[in-house]
Amino acid sequence: MGLVSGLAPSPSVAANGAKIPLLGLGTWELRGRTCARMVEQALRLGYRHIDTAEMYDNEREVGEGLHASGVKRGDVFVTTKVWPSHFAPRDLERAARDSLSRLRLRELDLLLLHWPNPQVPLADTLGALCNVKRDGLARHIGVSNFTVKLVEEAIRLSTEPLICNQIECHPFLDQSKVITACRKHGMAVVAYSPIARGGARNDKLLARIGAAHGKTAAQVCLRYLVQHEIVVIPRTSKEQRLKENAAIFDFALSAAEMKEIAGLAHRDGRVVDWSYSGRMHWD
Ligand SMILES: NC(=O)c1ccc[n+]([C@@H]2O[C@H](COP(=O)([O-])OP(=O)(O)OC[C@H]3O[C@@H](n4cnc5c(N)ncnc54)[C@H](OP(=O)(O)O)[C@@H]3O)[C@@H](O)[C@H]2O)c1
Repeated sequence: MGLVSGLAPSPSVAANGAKIPLLGLGTWELRGRTCARMVEQALRLGYRHIDTAEMYDNEREVGEGLHASGVKRGDVFVTTKVWPSHFAPRDLERAARDSLSRLRLRELDLLLLHWPNPQVPLADTLGALCNVKRDGLARHIGVSNFTVKLVEEAIRLSTEPLICNQIECHPFLDQSKVITACRKHGMAVVAYSPIARGGARNDKLLARIGAAHGKTAAQVCLRYLVQHEIVVIPRTSKEQRLKENAAIFDFALSAAEMKEIAGLAHRDGRVVDWSYSGRMHWD
């Protein structure tokens, strides 16, 4: 189904038997009425993918927005994530059921492990995640914030296909190694913080390229990722930006422009504090 308001339709990417819409709405830090309104508005505008997590404490509001939008359940791809303190098998199943009840859904489209948790054997957690899928609570399963080593381990241990790794990904960060590992196993890459938490807006190169296409720096940033078949889930609390962030399928960057943007990447370009996961006690 296409986007209304003259926006081009949002295509999908295929990943181990799943089809993930290339554009989704991120909802971290969206709360209360704003969250419900942004989800509803995004769906009315034509977004067909919503990203939440039990940790965002907004699944109820995401559910409200989903139901208020009037969009058919089968037309929306809903992702949520289990927090690492719930990675013990029994906790994981309960967490999935709790998410479904807050969202007021019978089945998730995608359930992810939010961050790795070295305190619980990955085999046990993946076993539980696969059971959740087999029990019909989630159509697809995947991981988030997994390194190359962990992706390889997860693929080896999982008895069900893992369809994606959701990672920090934008032009300012070199994620080539983990992207290659995901692709080798048919997994999609879902880019979180795809506009570098808003930082893309101030980049001179992205703005210059955008000016040549009548687009903003943020749109060029998102276009760069989707042109690499990377799923993007930009978050905004502003209706106008919902439209801006969706208007990325009606233009194309040239090979030369793609190459110039690739030159922005560096190894320490993270905007999300990765060391946080290492320091974290998950219980
Ligand atoms: N798996 C994980 O561990 C993980 C970690 C982080 C995020 N995520 C997911 O990924 C989603 C997106 O990442 P994010 O929220 O970290 O960052 P982001 O989407 O890169 O950036 C969001 C920020 O950019 C601003 N913004 C949005 N559109 C803009 C535009 N067109 N021009 C200029 N500024 C714009 C927003 O402000 P306004 O509200 O003022 O528009 C907000 O401050 C999250 O919401 C969450 O769903 C997952």
